[in-house]
Amino acid sequence: MKNYRVFMGLMALLIIGLIAVGCGSNVQQPVAFRADIAPGTLSAEEFGKFYPKQYDTYMKNAEMSNEGSKYGGSEEYDKLTQWPFLKEIFAGYGFAIEYNEDRGHVYTLEDVKKIKRINEKSISACWTCKSANVPGVVAEMGDAYYSTNFHELKDKMTEPITCANCHDPQTMKLVITQPPLRDALTRLGKNPDKLTTQELRTLVCAQCHVEYYFTDDKKIVTFPWDNGLTPEEILEYYEELGFVDWEHPVAKVGEIKAQHPEFETFASGSVHYEAGVSCADCHMPYTMVGGEKISSHWWTSPLKHMNESCMTCHREGEEWLKERVFYTQDKVADMMARVGTVNVEAIQAIAEADAAGANQEVLNEARKLQRKAQFLVDWVGAENSMGFHNPQLTFDTLNKSMDYAYQAIAKAQEARTGTAAPQWNVNIPKLNSEAVRLMQAPAEPAPVA
Ligand code: HEC
Ligand code: HEC
Ligand code: HEC
Ligand code: HEC
Repeated sequence: MKNYRVFMGLMALLIIGLIAVGCGSNVQQPVAFRADIAPGTLSAEEFGKFYPKQYDTYMKNAEMSNEGSKYGGSEEYDKLTQWPFLKEIFAGYGFAIEYNEDRGHVYTLEDVKKIKRINEKSISACWTCKSANVPGVVAEMGDAYYSTNFHELKDKMTEPITCANCHDPQTMKLVITQPPLRDALTRLGKNPDKLTTQELRTLVCAQCHVEYYFTDDKKIVTFPWDNGLTPEEILEYYEELGFVDWEHPVAKVGEIKAQHPEFETFASGSVHYEAGVSCADCHMPYTMVGGEKISSHWWTSPLKHMNESCMTCHREGEEWLKERVFYTQDKVADMMARVGTVNVEAIQAIAEADAAGANQEVLNEARKLQRKAQFLVDWVGAENSMGFHNPQLTFDTLNKSMDYAYQAIAKAQEARTGTAAPQWNVNIPKLNSEAVRLMQAPAEPAPVA
């Protein structure tokens, strides 16, 4: 029966192939033939037997290079020495011990097992975006999976991210397999099994490249999307919940750690998202392999293959476009370093006021402001594109972080001296029609004599 299906699948592919050749067009979409791989198959090698071309590109995820990229890349480097402010804002938390640049999808198991943030008390929730075994284990154990000791489930996590994270093995259709995204979509009234291909080309990535938190009681991985996707809406969600990841020992306030909000940043009004571009368009471009057009499964910096990722839409030269990307990224990096510094100064201002016996009630207001400032700068640092995915939102987020940080400093000073800093309520005119017109309407033309 199975062989018969494979045979039919091959026949279908052959026929479609012939049609494609017949059309003589080079813009045919790749077609996935149905190989009917057994349900529950997780290993990439198994899928690779039927889809060797996609598998070959997938194996490139093992390559490590930063070539062509200024702030991204696949080589592991230490973010804490690159951005010293991170060590200060994460004081008292695992991220101040070790925080590295991300690597390819095939390294997830290796990286999560060796990172010093994982200790004997870590929970299984940390496996969630690292292994194709997770959906099956959650189906088996239910919510108890999340709070089970991390080391207890080590033997069950045999696969890194594989084909099964995004594809139904039988039909090869894209599917949302990760329970946290299925839950979040359902809460927002969207059926995770009724998404369009266009939506899936972004949402399969949103299974993991998102902001998340662990619920207080059962430690369930949850996406904080109920108020919306922007950093401010997510901050508001955490504020309503009173959510705390850890207590900062110097600022003495409960802080929130941002994760890797690529999806939220991209989907909150970026020019590419609004133009209908998906994550896969740039990160999984069509590529020719042995005369066949396939989707690249090498998830890496698109700056390594701009011809395939960008030049399909952009007519400017590759070098020109890359300079545009670097222009944005350099400005974001400069501003992030500055805003990070003011965040550290806010923590120090609070600590100094505390040591000087300041008014605790007022100082607690300063602490609340510092917590907000910190989450917003952390958001930008944790997002992996150095602003490229949405430059306008990124600058807005940094600006708001800077504002909260300075407000925190002013409050800390007030707590110490009893004198509030001057405040001026800015009235932001949204429309040019709200401004006073300085030019009078043109005078009636003089009557012609
Ligand atoms: C992170 C998600 C993800 C993973 C993991 C993944 N794919 Fe895909 N795959 C996609 C997306 C997105 C497409 C494009 C689908 C579309 O546009 O219809 C795709 C398309 C395909 C296609 C259709 C033909 C083509 O090239 O577009 C095949 C076959 C395929 N993948 C095989 C694999 C194999 C084999 C693996 C494992 C080695 C794998 N995929 C892992 C997301 C994934
Ligand atoms: C099951 C979870 C999961 C899914 C689904 C997923 N990713 Fe990832 N991705 C990760 C993790 C975890 C890492 C970091 C791995 C490491 O550092 O060990 C990563 C790393 C990356 C990187 C950086 C690689 C490098 O070499 O620096 C890119 C780019 C990327 N993913 C893009 C995507 C895109 C695009 C999609 C959707 C088509 C996607 N990912 C789907 C979990 C996932
Ligand atoms: C318009 C093209 C485009 C789209 C769409 C896009 N990205 Fe990116 N992405 C980039 C560029 C450019 C970079 C910066 C790479 C660099 O700095 O080398 C990047 C960086 C990344 C990185 C870090 C890569 C690294 O080398 O460390 C990840 C992870 C990532 N994107 C995931 C996503 C996800 C998930 C989506 C969809 C929610 C997405 N991207 C949508 C172009 C795109
Ligand atoms: C599917 C089409 C598509 C792809 C693929 C694509 N872009 Fe774009 N890009 C657009 C559109 C549409 C705009 C809006 C402006 C315009 O029409 O040129 C845009 C705008 C931009 C801008 C200006 C952004 C701003 O905020 O002003 C930059 C820079 C850019 N793209 C870089 C890239 C890079 C780098 C890649 C590849 C990694 C890429 N794009 C891939 C369609 C695309």
